[in-house]
Amino acid sequence: MTESTSVLRQHAETQYARELEALAAGDTRQKPPRWKLSPWAVSLYLLGGELPSGERISPKYIGNRRVIEIAVATLATDRALLLLGVPGTAKSWVSEHLAAAISGDSTLVVQGTAGTSEEAVRYGWNYAQLLSKGPTHEAVVPSPVMRAMREGKIARIEELTRMPGEVQDSLISTLSEKALPIAELDDEVQARKGFNIIATANDRDRGVNELSSALKRRFNTVVLPPPRCADDEVEIVQTRVASIGRALELPAETPALEEIRRIVTVFRELREGATADGKVKLKSTTSSMSTAEAISVITHGMSLAAHFGDGVLRSADLAGGMVGAIVKDPVQDRIAMLEYLETVVKEREGWKDLYRACREVMD
Ligand SMILES: Nc1ncnc2c1ncn2[C@@H]1O[C@H](COP(=O)(O)OP(=O)(O)OP(=O)(O)O)[C@@H](O)[C@H]1O
Ligand SMILES: [Mg+2]
Repeated sequence: MTESTSVLRQHAETQYARELEALAAGDTRQKPPRWKLSPWAVSLYLLGGELPSGERISPKYIGNRRVIEIAVATLATDRALLLLGVPGTAKSWVSEHLAAAISGDSTLVVQGTAGTSEEAVRYGWNYAQLLSKGPTHEAVVPSPVMRAMREGKIARIEELTRMPGEVQDSLISTLSEKALPIAELDDEVQARKGFNIIATANDRDRGVNELSSALKRRFNTVVLPPPRCADDEVEIVQTRVASIGRALELPAETPALEEIRRIVTVFRELREGATADGKVKLKSTTSSMSTAEAISVITHGMSLAAHFGDGVLRSADLAGGMVGAIVKDPVQDRIAMLEYLETVVKEREGWKDLYRACREVMD
């Protein structure tokens, strides 16, 4: 096994290296400075399609084409890109693929948390060197943002709104001046062309730190919506489950489309608070019921089926993960789930097995 196939999760630029090469080979359109691909090719990489050479590009993002075009066009300007949306709408996923396609490098990432310090978006110091030699260029430990500025690449900031407000605001000068001063050395790092930032933020998180209006003005916000219809969501789940199953080398059959459709229906109905036909109103849950969670419920079920069953995904393999994803609050969610099971799942044709499996987990 080579180094690149033995890692648990490859970076997008490694996993899709062939597609990126094929796109670059046939790309005659104008590229912004230091971009690996033209904006047109970047968007083809994300949305999928076929090249004149016959090479097929797999779709990474399934949904509105315009959303991706606006995101890509933003990155070709001097404004940064903020991907906003409810959990599991592919914000991180799109951000990684954009960075891979544009810079050939999706690894310059800052993870935003309540504990993120300014050093993570500016620079820190190697204290051993700082103490022995004082502040020198060698003692500076650049943040991913600083490296992206030096190399003219895309830096990614995950969960921007989870970072403390003052850390967020320390990005303002980077974004407007395109330079990062190193006061101790009386020097600065100037961004090379090609530098930009993609940030992601969740608009449903509690305890977020609202972006200041000064920072907001430096970003173009693109909202990633939840999947438009059940068919789109089934396609997303199916594509991802197949690819995750391959990566994990699960010895399970790819789940039947009907099984995926069932899980997606459950997630959509609980998310929307009504059955698909609109006839039954449902109690709302505290859980987000995102596409990402539907994907992990099925992957988990495949693992159970593969290692403790006969490799065929059945409702008993899905029930545990499904109940776990839905019942986050032991009181409110449990009531909502039980009501859903009794009034909808039990009565639906061909769903009895799912009903029984879920009741077994919950009793
Ligand atoms: N429209 C979509 N097209 C393709 N994949 C999607 C889509 N929506 C969700 N996914 C899949 O859902 C998974 C989760 O996406 P991701 O982690 O990027 O979500 P997120 O928006 O960053 O969520 P969070 O707010 O929780 O960080 C990914 O595997 C992604 O492939
Ligand atoms: Mg994310």
